[in-house]
Amino acid sequence: MNYQQWLKDASALLIEKRKSDPYLNAKFDANLLLQFVTQKSKSQIHAFAETELDEKTLENLTALLNRRAAGEPIAYILGETEFWSLNLEVSPDTLIPRPDTEILVEQALERMPSKDCVAILDLGTGTGAIALSLAQELKKCGQNFRIFGVDLMPNAVELAKRNAVRNHLVEVEFQQSSWFENVNEKFDMIVSNPPYIDPKDTHLNQGDVRFEPLSSLIADDEGYADLYHIIQQAPQYLNAKGWLLLEHGWQQGEKVRSFFTENLWEMVATVRDYGDNERITLARLKR
Ligand SMILES: C[S@@+](CC[C@H](N)C(=O)[O-])C[C@H]1O[C@@H](n2cnc3c(N)ncnc32)[C@H](O)[C@@H]1O
Repeated sequence: MNYQQWLKDASALLIEKRKSDPYLNAKFDANLLLQFVTQKSKSQIHAFAETELDEKTLENLTALLNRRAAGEPIAYILGETEFWSLNLEVSPDTLIPRPDTEILVEQALERMPSKDCVAILDLGTGTGAIALSLAQELKKCGQNFRIFGVDLMPNAVELAKRNAVRNHLVEVEFQQSSWFENVNEKFDMIVSNPPYIDPKDTHLNQGDVRFEPLSSLIADDEGYADLYHIIQQAPQYLNAKGWLLLEHGWQQGEKVRSFFTENLWEMVATVRDYGDNERITLARLKR
């Protein structure tokens, strides 16, 4: 079997599976799998479409294709994904970073205070996606920073550390902590994409989230418990006029805004995502 025939058969299988799993992107995913296993670029594969696949490579491809056909996220199968301008290792220990989270990075950069050294805390850092994207941008413009990312899951902390090395951003520090538990200093900005899905949400049975750990997805009180906890605790860990930026569910904006009490917070606002849904709520500490 050659590249072209394999792509045709693999796409046909995934198109068939798509009937029961609309999250599959048949041709695109088949191409990604073939590129991954052969270590050839898309253009090389198409230029040399008649290349025969040896038995070992075919076996490998079949195993990965079956995983994808069973709905496993392509990022977990490949072990990596792109976020911002980073290539990140991913693992089933934490969430696969989503494009909408890049809006949180953009909003944070727009509000970056101008001082000699900015201090930023990323709560629930996972792969380190937000912390490392901010570090990459600050580094580019010569801004000194201290960026600290924490996660409850020790394996996620190790993953974030590996991603720091992989992206040449070893200045970023990562540590295990349940939210602020092991945080002993103040920051100019706190960013977080915490778990915010209601445990009863039926979307948990669909698409990529079926394979992601519940520890990165769900929160008590209809998904609001962690958002509320972070907003309550943040003032103790922010410098004067420090910013807090939080990602949340598309229907949670109004309630999240209400958690920012008027006596403590100002400039409370919600920013919409690429699908025009409320996604990021942010506010500045008054004093
Ligand atoms: C929605 S994921 C976000 C991951 C990453 N920041 C991103 O945007 O792709 C939430 C993360 O919060 C972590 N988490 C859950 N509970 C936590 C807690 N009590 N303290 C710290 N991190 C927690 C999870 O392990 C997970 O990595």
